Amino acid sequence: MSELTDKLKKEIESARISTREELEHFRLTYLSKKGHVSALLSKIGSVAAEERKIFGQKVNAVKQLAHTKLKEAEQRLHSTKKSTAKATDDITLPASPLPLGVAHPLSQTLRQIKDVFYRLGFSIADGPEVEDDFHNFTALNFPPEHPARDMQDTFFIRKTEDADTDDLVLRTHTSPVQIRLMKNGTPPFRSIMPGRVYRNESITAKSYCLFHQVEGLYVDKKVSLAELKDTLIMFVEMIYGEDVRYRIRPSFFPFTEPSLEMDIWWGDESSGKWLEILGAGMVHPNVLQAVGIDSEEYSGFAFGMGVERIAMLKYGIDDIRLLYDNDLRFLQQFQ
Ligand code: PHE
Repeated sequence: MSELTDKLKKEIESARISTREELEHFRLTYLSKKGHVSALLSKIGSVAAEERKIFGQKVNAVKQLAHTKLKEAEQRLHSTKKSTAKATDDITLPASPLPLGVAHPLSQTLRQIKDVFYRLGFSIADGPEVEDDFHNFTALNFPPEHPARDMQDTFFIRKTEDADTDDLVLRTHTSPVQIRLMKNGTPPFRSIMPGRVYRNESITAKSYCLFHQVEGLYVDKKVSLAELKDTLIMFVEMIYGEDVRYRIRPSFFPFTEPSLEMDIWWGDESSGKWLEILGAGMVHPNVLQAVGIDSEEYSGFAFGMGVERIAMLKYGIDDIRLLYDNDLRFLQQFQ
């Protein structure tokens, strides 16, 4: 019997363990449940009583030997793994920084816009990008023959002649979210509605087939035009600084009356020009009625702006397409 233990002892002594794989192989061969040491241990019971004590001691010694060898090899491999650093390396130095991504200039601008309106007590409302004609046009007081419904501007998803089925469109503005908000709740409302909108326009430095808007809606008892003007002025001052030069002039939108547009002065005194940054107005009574709000009791204002336009003016970007090219040389400038 002791030939078996002697043989195993020799084998273990001469086993080479210089990699993690060899270590695992050693453990499986000798020390696992089905390994050689277990096999010998299970033989102890069947050995003749006179020899049993000696045999048991020998098996245990072999087991100890295997364990010690395994431990040593483990320690050796562990420490070589750690010591790949060269003696000259200063391991107390901080690691070199990983390249950090930055938020897209549109996301940064949107965040700034949202921050302004959070401070003014507005919450966020959301709606679908595929809209029906009712929410995108009819409820917003667009007459049936209004040119904005024309194929020129609108991407139609489903165009129908059937009077009972609505056309489906990619929303051309975020104003339909106003309608959804007012239809599903009761006044007062004070929300902004950021989102992507689509226009079937040719792609140039100034226009793209999609862009982002932030629309705002405030409906309550006795909301006034003066409050709208105050809100807009506060907005441009917070985004472009207190010395921003702005003007407010009359305009037209089917869903507001009166309607206005706001421009800011861009450039220096002699070579600068007025650039439009948003449209706004008092919510048209027809719109309030379309969503079941009593226009005698409630009034409201709404405004809408293009996030791309605000970003382009803020950062001096002269081509809207840069915002969609994802060229790192451009994006990395917005650290
Ligand atoms: N929805 C308008 C547009 O897309 C912007 C706007 C919103 C104007 C709200 C007035 C009031 O041009």
